[in-house]
Amino acid sequence: MNVNGKDYTSVWMERTTVYMIDQNLLPFEFRIYKAENYDDVCHAISNMITRGAGSIGAAAAFGMAQAFMQAPRNHSSAFVEQAYQKINATRPTARDLFAATERVFRAGTKSAQHAVEEAFLIHNEYIKAGEKIAEYGNNLIHNGFKIETHCNAGWLGLVEWGSALAPIYKAARSGKEIFVWVDETRPRGQGARLTAWELQQEHIPHKIIPDNAGAHLMSRNMVDIIFVGADRIARNGDVANKIGTLEKAIAAKAYGVPFYVCAPSSTFDLDCPDGNAIPIEERPQDEVLYQTGRDDHGRLHKLLVCSPESEALNPAFDVTPAQYITGIITEKCIVRP
Ligand code: MRU
Repeated sequence: MNVNGKDYTSVWMERTTVYMIDQNLLPFEFRIYKAENYDDVCHAISNMITRGAGSIGAAAAFGMAQAFMQAPRNHSSAFVEQAYQKINATRPTARDLFAATERVFRAGTKSAQHAVEEAFLIHNEYIKAGEKIAEYGNNLIHNGFKIETHCNAGWLGLVEWGSALAPIYKAARSGKEIFVWVDETRPRGQGARLTAWELQQEHIPHKIIPDNAGAHLMSRNMVDIIFVGADRIARNGDVANKIGTLEKAIAAKAYGVPFYVCAPSSTFDLDCPDGNAIPIEERPQDEVLYQTGRDDHGRLHKLLVCSPESEALNPAFDVTPAQYITGIITEKCIVRP
């Protein structure tokens, strides 16, 4: 994607350094985070400098490759084993993280060069998958459609193209007139901060809506189709995605709005029989109790937005049962749950 006249992917590697767009600073500042070793990559994933299932997968793949390149000769297997464990412990839900580290770990048993090649292959597969998802999803979009999306499943979350935003980019670039409702996605605001920023870069008309506005808009025929991403898809078609996805899916079913999940096949976890087996990350309560934003003078502030005595629960994902999903758009085909 083009930002300020330069093409970027969300995550990339040059020599032994991994680079990522710092998503915590967007939309206020565009800065690149440099990870010199796998520890830095772990820090970036745990702290959501990079986030979104595909970008987490690509970062994890490059971090694993760094471990093979930087392992000391005398105890290289202990070093890469430790890296494998540490990267896998960064976040629990996105399947792509584990699929990526496993692939690079296996390739690295041949040589460090094989590990590096596998990591670049994974990165490239994400780019190609996004483009195919764009094509299949675009076929579902008619001129004049109003599309709702939740969280950020754009190119920041899947290297290039994105997953849920990929069909939207394809439709806009092919000349369709479309409009996007962007769920703000509390508590971290991935919709308001990241999806809206991405759509601005592409000049796609959109408005941010409060998370609790979706059902109302659907009840007034103001949503023609919904596209969301996925963090893990169980064998029966249940989908874990950003908290709040489930409510959109239930409302969509009630009002007859087609509800599509967009994800590369690497997000499927065939060892997970159903959504109950998907681990759901619980994040710090401060993400709910405080909000960070910019004042009119451009200064960033972190503000307490509730009573100082209040406590919060912060589940980062929910599981949408397959019965609420119209189809899952992958790089291979559209799967009907
Ligand atoms: O906690 P996050 O921001 O990593 O959650 C991201 C999402 O839930 C996305 O919708 C999902 O990863 C799909 S993005 C390719």
